[in-house]
Amino acid sequence: NTHVFNNSLDASKEVAAEVASLIREKQAQQKMCVLGLATGSSPKSLYAELVRLHKEENLSFKNVISFNLDEYYPMKAESIHSYVRFMNEQLFDHVDINAENVHIPDGTLSKQEIAEYCNSYESKIEEMGGIDLQILGIGGNGHIGFNESGSLQNSKTRLVALDHSTRIAASKDFKGLKNTPRTAITLGVSKIMEARRVILLAWGEAKSAIVRKAVEEEFTNQVPASFLQEHNAVDFVVDKEAASQLT
Ligand code: F6R
Repeated sequence: NTHVFNNSLDASKEVAAEVASLIREKQAQQKMCVLGLATGSSPKSLYAELVRLHKEENLSFKNVISFNLDEYYPMKAESIHSYVRFMNEQLFDHVDINAENVHIPDGTLSKQEIAEYCNSYESKIEEMGGIDLQILGIGGNGHIGFNESGSLQNSKTRLVALDHSTRIAASKDFKGLKNTPRTAITLGVSKIMEARRVILLAWGEAKSAIVRKAVEEEFTNQVPASFLQEHNAVDFVVDKEAASQLT
């Protein structure tokens, strides 16, 4: 399903309300709520609204367990470019989540440690009962997480080479392509597809062509977001501009 909103703020409020009601529903059942989280510009307004709900409407994150999709590799947690830093600044520093319930792929491992680490990241998700709700953005090439074009539908959490287009998009933050990481650790497509609910956010004209491809064109591993066509509880939440090429 595609939900079109006038603007990203209205859309993010609606998504935040769904996230909040899931957290509260689980709280009432004395259960943990497992959220899959994304970074990048798309979820910023969602996180701002969740922070507001925490501060003004008593939304507690004490029963939230989070698993982020990805992290650049190599990347130190304290770097201004790390997704650890991004998540702290956008969300975790402003809510009452327990630090031990936060999981973000570790960009500081040695190459030899990565495969085992990725397996254990997936095992932890499974031990927690799987992801209740996964938030996604979409790359200009159709990537979800850092599952770039060509990723398989059954791909696991792993170290990946970033597409040139992904590195170009990131290079403004890194002040040039030569400083931009070439690799990242990403949750695989299969764990994303196993999430019980998936919400993909896309804002702006620049995302309109890839949103159309993902939603209306054939299922293809050239556009990993098109895999979501086979998910039974996915919504694409988009603004007017991102929806502008949908028929
Ligand atoms: C980030 C991630 C990426 C982004 C995508 C869109 O954790 O997994 O797939 O969601 O690159 O990025 P923005 O939102 O910056 O356009």
